[in-house]
Amino acid sequence: MNQPASPSPAAVPLALDGIKSRQQQTWAAGDYSVVGTTLQLVGERLCEALDLRAGERVLDVAAGNGNASLAAARCCCDVVSTDFVPALLEAGRARAQADRLTIDFEPADAEALPFGDRTFDVAVSTFGVMFTPDPARAANELLRVCRPGGRIGLTTWTPAGFIGQLFAVVGRHVPPPPGLPSPAAWGTRARLVELFGSRGVVTITPREFVFRYRSPQHWLEVFREFYGPVHRAFAGLETPAQEALAADLLGLVELWPRPGDGTMAVPAEYLEVIVTCREGNATPRRHDERRRTLSPDQTRRCPIR
Ligand SMILES: C[S@@+](CC[C@H](N)C(=O)[O-])C[C@H]1O[C@@H](n2cnc3c(N)ncnc32)[C@H](O)[C@@H]1O
Repeated sequence: MNQPASPSPAAVPLALDGIKSRQQQTWAAGDYSVVGTTLQLVGERLCEALDLRAGERVLDVAAGNGNASLAAARCCCDVVSTDFVPALLEAGRARAQADRLTIDFEPADAEALPFGDRTFDVAVSTFGVMFTPDPARAANELLRVCRPGGRIGLTTWTPAGFIGQLFAVVGRHVPPPPGLPSPAAWGTRARLVELFGSRGVVTITPREFVFRYRSPQHWLEVFREFYGPVHRAFAGLETPAQEALAADLLGLVELWPRPGDGTMAVPAEYLEVIVTCREGNATPRRHDERRRTLSPDQTRRCPIR
């Protein structure tokens, strides 16, 4: 029988509940949707790579304001969009309404999804589950809710890429809790195979997303105001330390070639990951009474009429 993925390497025991609620506050800070909207292309590319078919049941985990959810709904899939920040789900709902797409929005913790085993044909998470404090548990949840033969589609920033390095810079100024696994570990082939390889066929494609802003200063202003982890890092520092962090972040941008016109166009490396689930992939969860299946109404509907 297949075994669940091995526990995350942690030097010290983690108080996961406290960390989880702090992370929730972090992602609720600023307004991630402003940055999220710029990343729409990643969700579209992932859904193409998954070769979604009309009527497939798709779960978007840690969906933010719904990039991958919208992309899947445009393929006539039956989409449930989840996140643990209600305001981001509301932002996703507004986008779906504007595009006249039908999507269900539900609050959910990626590490305790409120759905039954094998409920979905496809589970996706674009730069989402990589931020959970217990990666093995998050991976198990994706595998559990996906039917055998179904697919899991992920995008994860790499440690050496622009966003992986952004987190390294921020971590030098505001150290994370000891023992918390780095989100960028999800951006390595070895960790992905460790998490999913025993229960699915893992295909990994390196890709780039280009962060385009009017200037490096403009990028910094947007991330400082709206991107929760950067917003919170600045908010917790005194002015001289804020200036040092700002200088290091602008220094990071300088590591990539600049267009000659003063604008910023930094390619950020990420991995596009597709896991095709094997028979017997699901590790049933025994403890959660809230789990449920989709209603007939949710499973028979094309959002494009
Ligand atoms: C970088 S954003 C990505 C959002 C979206 N998938 C996208 O591509 O724009 C990370 C998201 O993960 C969500 N998140 C982080 N940890 C989570 C958890 N344990 N459960 C649910 N959502 C989580 C945050 O609220 C945030 O919306």
